Amino acid sequence: MPEFIPLISEEEIKTQVQRIGEAITKDYENSDLVLIGILKGSFIFLSDLTRKISIDHEIDLIGASSYEGTSSTGKIVFTKKPDLELEGRDILLVEDIVDTGNTLLKIVEFIQQLNPRSIKICSLIDKHERRKTEIDVSYSCFTLEKGFIVGYGLDYNEKYRNLPAIYDLKL
Ligand code: IMP
Ligand code: MG
Repeated sequence: MPEFIPLISEEEIKTQVQRIGEAITKDYENSDLVLIGILKGSFIFLSDLTRKISIDHEIDLIGASSYEGTSSTGKIVFTKKPDLELEGRDILLVEDIVDTGNTLLKIVEFIQQLNPRSIKICSLIDKHERRKTEIDVSYSCFTLEKGFIVGYGLDYNEKYRNLPAIYDLKL
């Protein structure tokens, strides 16, 4: 049986989501903000975060799977592209956890081709252990040195996304 070690409580998550929601509200006051959630892991974080941002903004979703082939750069396949017009707008990508940064780097390259005014990254967790890219995470609720975590949207083989708090998973 896998073991779930409590790491971040519901209360701590709530406090941090409130904090970055307020920061985004302030920083994007005179902007044309579009939050783009990256499927599927960000769906719970996105739904809490949008309610803590008190300026007008729009929401879209993007789905991407990366395949690490023989080439070191890897390839990305989009399972869902944004529906909104993004040209000239201020894009904030919302991710569950940034690990190597490979997926996000490809998504940023894709969005850049659509000529937005700005692109920034917001991630619930910024995990440093395996970072391979120069991705700049502008807003994060928590940083993690290493480990594999589940809950609050984060899965292991598609399970445990429903746990309301975050746990370190020991298999
Ligand atoms: P990256 O391209 O290596 O940054 O991949 C990030 C993606 O890997 C995240 O969006 C998650 O879906 C998954 N991931 C990385 N670390 C964890 C973890 O600790 N728990 C659950 N999913 C993770
Ligand atoms: Mg993910």
